[in-house]
Amino acid sequence: MLMKSAEHSGNAVFGPEAGAIAERFPRDFVWGVATSAYQIEGAAHEDGRGDSIWDEFCRRPGAIKDGSSGDRACDHYHRIGEDVGLIASLGVNAYRFSMAWPRVQPLGAGEWNEKGFDFYDRLVDGLLERGVGPHLTLNHWDLPQALQEIGGWMNRDTVGRFADYAAEVARRFGSRAATIATHNEPWVIAILGHQAGTFAPGLKSQKAAMQVSHHLLLSHGIALQALRGQRCAAPLGIVLNQGPTHAVTNSPEDLAKARLDDGLTIRWYMDALLRGSYPEDVLAFLGEDAPRVAPGDMATIRQPLDFLGINYYTRNLSGTGVPLGPVESGREVTDMGWEVFPAGMTELLLRLQADYRLPPIHVTENGAAYRDRLVGGRVADVDRIRYLQSHIAAMADALEGGVDVRGYFVWSLLDNFEWADGYSKRFGLVFVDYDTQQRTLKDSALWYRQFCSRARASGPWRRASGDGVRP
Ligand code: FCB
Repeated sequence: MLMKSAEHSGNAVFGPEAGAIAERFPRDFVWGVATSAYQIEGAAHEDGRGDSIWDEFCRRPGAIKDGSSGDRACDHYHRIGEDVGLIASLGVNAYRFSMAWPRVQPLGAGEWNEKGFDFYDRLVDGLLERGVGPHLTLNHWDLPQALQEIGGWMNRDTVGRFADYAAEVARRFGSRAATIATHNEPWVIAILGHQAGTFAPGLKSQKAAMQVSHHLLLSHGIALQALRGQRCAAPLGIVLNQGPTHAVTNSPEDLAKARLDDGLTIRWYMDALLRGSYPEDVLAFLGEDAPRVAPGDMATIRQPLDFLGINYYTRNLSGTGVPLGPVESGREVTDMGWEVFPAGMTELLLRLQADYRLPPIHVTENGAAYRDRLVGGRVADVDRIRYLQSHIAAMADALEGGVDVRGYFVWSLLDNFEWADGYSKRFGLVFVDYDTQQRTLKDSALWYRQFCSRARASGPWRRASGDGVRP
């Protein structure tokens, strides 16, 4: 089914430079691919799954660029046998996926849906049988719609609902998951979902957005307590989207704006999680829009983290009058309009290391959308290979600079439903024909397979942090 392009294996594009980069990583480094439930599963109305806020958002005229939804997506729900085989065929030792809360608890409270849990049981067991570690995320944005109807993440009660869900997942999967992350990218849920309104649930209020960000962080803390209360064996963490913020000019106004944007995107989350406080300058900027914080909340948020997931795609350019989103810099961009800026990954990781007492880091997402074309059974996605190679090299620079990076996950395994962009953006290592659901390995998949096998075979045994010499 999938090996159509295997004859011209990645050799053509896997050069000596890639081999030299692979050798800079310890052999026990975690190499993976990532997806999320709503973007690939489909089967949105089957086997008792409840609606999520994304099902609802997709029904709004104009919300999704191509008018599509995740109703069918990659039909992964019906194809897990094939897809687990596909993951294993890449030679990765890790797969990051999310569980759809409304699939396992349709109303976000009360009854569990056994058919939903069965699906994730088959997925997790299938991965383990093939030696692939299941890295589970509890919330990759698809909140049960029933909870949205009573305020969603704006309602403090959702925090308790989320902790119940986390505890149930720990009971069932805690000993099989390789890691468990609470949330994926709380900034996106808060800001794009509640301030910009471009993502579900589509609200436009800074005050709501900041209250949501606080409830997400609080629910992370309470969920970690609940997971640990279940004696969950898996290392626990959270996934943040981050990139360095650079000012567009050196004017004092632009520098000040860049500092504030750094506060809103990085320090807001990192200070809360690792120091138990919100940054003063951001609180002052927010004024009346600052969230209501109850006594004890900040200590709850600051739970010990076993790992921190960082999703890195690009840097942010900031200045007075510069809108949120990609800014023209004259440099190469991907099909998302995101600047290709690998040095930003090194800069970000070294800066986080300097400013905080970091737990081990997983780069939980990195990758690029390009206008891939399937021609004669092959997708020659040279740009994606260059993107991946340069970013993995940038990660090696951070590792050698002393950052305890232990894992890397390409976004994404498959082309999939890219949120408000629908199916118009292709991020996969594997090309998906949405009419036939045929999967075809792109050249980048063949490249990554060769890269992972080289990294496992030739790197040093010892972690850069020196915490374990293997036989
Ligand atoms: C991240 C999301 C992921 C995907 C990539 C391109 O922000 O976590 O679901 O959409 O961007």
